[in-house]
Amino acid sequence: MKVNKTLDVYCHDKHVGTLAEMPDKRVAFQYSTEWQKTGFSISPFSLPLRNDVFIPNERSVDRFAGLFGVFADSLPDSWGGLLLDRYLQTLGIDIGDISTLDRLAYIGKSGIGALEYMPSKEADYDLSSIGLDYDVVAKECENLLSSKQSDQLDILYKMGGSSGGTRPKIMIKDDNKEWIVKFPAKTDPAISGKREYDYSLCAKDCGIVMTETGLIPSSICDGYFKTVRFDREQGEKIFSITFAALLEADFRAPSCDYETYLKLVRVLTKDNDYDKKQMFKTMCFNVLTHNRDDHTKNFSFLYTDMNGWRLAPAYDLTYSDTYWGEHTTSVGGKGKNITIKDLTNIGVGAGLTSEYCDKCYSYIVEKTYVLKPYLSKNSREKGIHHKLTEHIAEL
Ligand SMILES: Nc1ncnc2c1ncn2[C@@H]1O[C@H](COP(=O)(O)OP(=O)(O)OP(=O)(O)O)[C@@H](O)[C@H]1O
Ligand SMILES: [Mg+2]
Repeated sequence: MKVNKTLDVYCHDKHVGTLAEMPDKRVAFQYSTEWQKTGFSISPFSLPLRNDVFIPNERSVDRFAGLFGVFADSLPDSWGGLLLDRYLQTLGIDIGDISTLDRLAYIGKSGIGALEYMPSKEADYDLSSIGLDYDVVAKECENLLSSKQSDQLDILYKMGGSSGGTRPKIMIKDDNKEWIVKFPAKTDPAISGKREYDYSLCAKDCGIVMTETGLIPSSICDGYFKTVRFDREQGEKIFSITFAALLEADFRAPSCDYETYLKLVRVLTKDNDYDKKQMFKTMCFNVLTHNRDDHTKNFSFLYTDMNGWRLAPAYDLTYSDTYWGEHTTSVGGKGKNITIKDLTNIGVGAGLTSEYCDKCYSYIVEKTYVLKPYLSKNSREKGIHHKLTEHIAEL
């Protein structure tokens, strides 16, 4: 197998620059001359737009497979990574021989966001004639997660091999829109799809911007959650980057505070009031609805020439625990027992008025009341919707 030592990065058919693997496995990057003249900095803190060879720090090897975060965003997380490994095994390729640049080459043009990698090794399947039975897909995902084989590995790989996150997912086109469909992970209850859908409706009701969401019916669970992709619009790719990538932060560890997030929003969006409020609302929502897996890959920015840097719509808002029992992103240094004062302090520190913060918090408390059934341990596990708990007391 030919091993990639360099790879070219493209965005909207323009040559952004070149990646080159160094002997210690770190991957250096340099912008093309064309991009330096006409492009934008794809990662403002790490890769300013200038003629330089940028080398990621040593921590990038553990954190981002030796890449700068913005390129690591194109790599799949655990689910897509599992599919790629299985797919390569079917081709008789030893995954131990695969370098980071090879993995990006397999992603080719299919990654999240707008970056593309050439020369690509992307698999070429025509899936246009495939009729999808979502319950069958869910079962195949379950088989793969249980270390069994799947007869539909190639289809799953093509539809979900470049996806991020832990949960099995596929990307589909329907009704002229591009969607992500999520399937339960092994530990997820049968209500998880419906729950994420209900959370999304409630979040929108709280004034949080999300893309269109839906629930696909199922005969084996309460349905599959789907959401329209914010990195695709009428066939065009929109450049996106996660907070983890921007900050070169380890998304697996609790490494950030909402205070940092608000600062990030202020710096990148030129203190855009709308985005600051979005960030504040999402923080309150996550705290009030026990979305504790609020790690740095669960927030993103979008960049367009027209609007510059803007906070991306919210995603992955659902009931979630962490094994250490606290939020992954802290609120003023606290991961649990977070009070209204802790939340408003963050908002006020970012330049929002205390009246706005108090009012917004009270509004979200009122609106999230509908999610209370999901916040009772009993109802969460059994899907029973009538046992209410005083979750507010737990904040
Ligand atoms: N609506 C969307 N548009 C574009 N990209 C999205 C959207 N929703 C999610 N993503 C991308 O897909 C990745 C995985 O999605 P999501 O976080 O919902 O999955 P998950 O498997 O539940 O994640 P986690 O591992 O955090 O539990 C996100 O990190 C984000 O990059
Ligand atoms: Mg996520």
